[in-house]
Amino acid sequence: MGETDAQQQQQQQQEGGAAAPPAAKQRVISKEEMAKHNTEDDCWIAVHGKVYDITKFLPDHPGGPEVITNIAGQDTSEEFEEIGHSDSARHQAVPYEIGVLEGHEETATGCVVPKDEKAKKAASSGGGGMSGIIPLILVAIIAILTYFIIARQSTT
Ligand code: HEM
Repeated sequence: MGETDAQQQQQQQQEGGAAAPPAAKQRVISKEEMAKHNTEDDCWIAVHGKVYDITKFLPDHPGGPEVITNIAGQDTSEEFEEIGHSDSARHQAVPYEIGVLEGHEETATGCVVPKDEKAKKAASSGGGGMSGIIPLILVAIIAILTYFIIARQSTT
């Protein structure tokens, strides 16, 4: 199984050029299949709809292997976010991506995107609101000053 998948991926990369890798990663994996890979020697997790085979990464995980093997074979999105993983940690997950979780084919963002989306949302709701008001206040101040300057000139 594993070998044929690897061969297929290699073939797709050779034939398809730049478009091949995302297509190869769109393998749809059911929750039942995920659940079978729940040990330290065979460890899959799902984060925000994408499935990662992190068996080889486990010994290097800075939080230790046990925290992950305890919840292996499951959707670990909440646990992953609760830790507040850094951007660097999110990018380290990318090479281990093996597919999308069934039902998340259209919405899967995986480890990397959610934090960026949060940042964008924060910028547009908080920052966007304020940056709309500031120019209006400046225009009002300039208008008032101009009014007083003209009024003073006309009295002298
Ligand atoms: C592909 C998946 C994962 C990758 C690549 C990853 C990577 C990392 C990295 C690089 C760190 C060091 C801190 C940082 O840079 O944020 C870290 C810390 C940690 N991770 Fe993960 N992690 C993954 C999944 C998980 C999951 C599913 C859990 C679930 C509980 C978890 C729990 C922790 C904990 C407890 C720490 C230690 C935090 C600390 O000491 O402050 N990680 N991880």
